[in-house]
Amino acid sequence: MERKRKLDVGGAGSSSVAAAVDAKKAHVVSRMNPWTGQPYSQKYYEILTKRKTLPVHQFLQELLSKVAANQVVVVEGETGSGKTTQIPQFLVEAGYGQVGQFSVACTQPRRVAAMSIAQRVSDEMDVTLGDIVGYSIRFEICTSQRTILNFMTDGMLLREAMNDPMLAKYKCIVLDEAHERTLATDVLMGLLKEVLKRRPDLKVVVMSATLDAGKFQTYFDSAPLLKVPGRMFPVEIFYTPEPERDYVEAAVRTVVQIHRCEEPGDILVFLTGELEIETACAQIRSECAQFAGSETVGEVMVYPLYSSLAPQAQQKIFRDAPGPKYPGGPPGRKVVVSTNIAETSLTIDGIVYVVDPGFSKQKVYNPRIRVESLLVSPISRASAKQRSGRAGRTRPGKCFRLYTERSFQEELLEQTYPEILRSKMSTVVLTLLKLGVEDLVHFDFMDPPAPETLMRALELLNYLGALDDEGCLTEIGSQMSELPVDPQLAKMLIASPDYNCSNEILTIVAMLSVPQVFMRPKEAAKEADAAKAQFAHMDGDHLTFLNAYHAYKQNDGNKDWCFNNFINTRSMGSADNVREQLSRLMQRLNLPLKSTEFTNRDYYTNIKKALCAGMFMQVAHRERSDHYLTVKDNQIVGIHPSSALDSKPEWVIFEEFVLTSKNFIRTVTAVQPEWLVEIAPHYYDLSQFPECEAKHALEAVYRRMLNRQAKAD
Ligand code: CDP
Ligand code: MG
Repeated sequence: MERKRKLDVGGAGSSSVAAAVDAKKAHVVSRMNPWTGQPYSQKYYEILTKRKTLPVHQFLQELLSKVAANQVVVVEGETGSGKTTQIPQFLVEAGYGQVGQFSVACTQPRRVAAMSIAQRVSDEMDVTLGDIVGYSIRFEICTSQRTILNFMTDGMLLREAMNDPMLAKYKCIVLDEAHERTLATDVLMGLLKEVLKRRPDLKVVVMSATLDAGKFQTYFDSAPLLKVPGRMFPVEIFYTPEPERDYVEAAVRTVVQIHRCEEPGDILVFLTGELEIETACAQIRSECAQFAGSETVGEVMVYPLYSSLAPQAQQKIFRDAPGPKYPGGPPGRKVVVSTNIAETSLTIDGIVYVVDPGFSKQKVYNPRIRVESLLVSPISRASAKQRSGRAGRTRPGKCFRLYTERSFQEELLEQTYPEILRSKMSTVVLTLLKLGVEDLVHFDFMDPPAPETLMRALELLNYLGALDDEGCLTEIGSQMSELPVDPQLAKMLIASPDYNCSNEILTIVAMLSVPQVFMRPKEAAKEADAAKAQFAHMDGDHLTFLNAYHAYKQNDGNKDWCFNNFINTRSMGSADNVREQLSRLMQRLNLPLKSTEFTNRDYYTNIKKALCAGMFMQVAHRERSDHYLTVKDNQIVGIHPSSALDSKPEWVIFEEFVLTSKNFIRTVTAVQPEWLVEIAPHYYDLSQFPECEAKHALEAVYRRMLNRQAKAD
């Protein structure tokens, strides 16, 4: 069926708005789906009825006129009011997306949200995911030539801007969840401000939960606001009288209590990460199993929700709660145990009880010691309010805060600091330079990052050879920016052909880019360790990853093999996919794919040297006291217990600095100091070195090298 309506999106007036609406009505009357040319399905009508009850529905006209009359519009609305699912869709229907010409992008801070919402909107529009509606997240693009509505992570849109600085393929960009103030969204806002000046036809809609809309309006030169009033039922808040010592255990206990004693209604629990969530789910299941067969307590279905979960498993959270087991019996209950993603990004209907222990994993960056980590930290009051709001969407609810009222009032911050103030900036700086933004200090950040953080980023990029001493992007830097991994890993990939091991480095980088490969369930920790030991390489974890990948390929990715060897099949599948994509990028950058013969004695040495080419700034030295100190920053660290290293080599490179009660370095490999000074003499310039044992050791290395050279001469 021909799509008749067309909107003059440049200077659209109200007549074209009306035309769009007429056309929309016409579709309903004709009962034909204009996107597929097929009659609408039953499911479409079912969802349509629900969609029409969303608060945002009544404001769609107003939104269209505002968008027609302004380049930037800010939309503020209670979570669950229908912003994400309805507004981008409506913009597409109004003509801001035209097959084969231009499209609408909607950014999301989280991968899971991008995928899940794209699926939902496809269902709402009665189309197949990946056709008219798609999603793009790092290493996974599910779109087609026909896609006109693309849900993408903010980071992906930033990457697209590198190759298409005017974002020419989009007529309208919706920045969703702007209140989250992720690093990528903040940078996008700064870029869009520039692009908007040069593209008068481009529209931007900034959407946020009820926080700080004024700040966005001011930032975008007094952009108009569309406020969507939410429909909220009262939520009763309960605090614990005393602080809880173990919040996971307290959360489980609270869920069981609610299930036994409270009226029907589903439960949403906020925890911080995969391991915690899986543990809590198992405990809730087992404790609730005690009531099986009880006449007064119904069944529970417990679903986890976190980013590394398989998409099918993620969709399960939207299932209905189980019914009564026998006619007239007590109804069942759904329990969703989720990370922060359910705070504002995804709305689950039917939640009446919220259990909020008051923590989430948050990024922190310490520029002094150059360490960025994810730390379980107390949430802000704003987050706590969002979380409790999830209980009052369909009827009055209850929120159980597992902390004291005093701590809510006095200890929690009003709002979380924007991520840009808590992150390292190396990737962003590289991206901005590639985009031609040279004056970083005057770039219009909504909240400018700390000067020290910017300096650290420039310094790192300079050491890696991505920037010259004037701060300009080099050829290598330009290549690095094309590879969607951390600058250190990008450098490793680019250097790898020089060491005859690009195939192997590709594998290692791919393995480092996916979630947990080696599984270690608590109840089978011993077996899991024994399984991992088969792949262990005595020189460390990078080579252990390589061994595991080779074994996986030798077994053709067989699922049973993975299961028996405690290997996460899904992660390995992702690693394969990431490897494939990176290898295509390498070829495009004319970086040859090479290997050293396995029988050659330099096979592993070459790989370790290539690792050093990227990681020479992440090195630790074993002191006489047997402790490791990070080189230059002099932080005391221990090798993480998960490491495959069985000795304590004097020099190691590490991938990650883990801050817990004790500082650990994780993913560690033994290296030779000679390689470090050869590969990065500028970094290992001893005149710039703090006094420490490592310095003395390096002096000896330099002396040995000079002697050797003198002998050779
Ligand atoms: O973006 P906002 O928080 O304003 O709301 P939304 O994500 O657009 O969600 C609107 C409504 O769509 C929710 O209240 C859910 O009822 C429904 N929805 C759903 O049923 N299943 C999904 N996968 C996503 C949304
Ligand atoms: Mg939303």
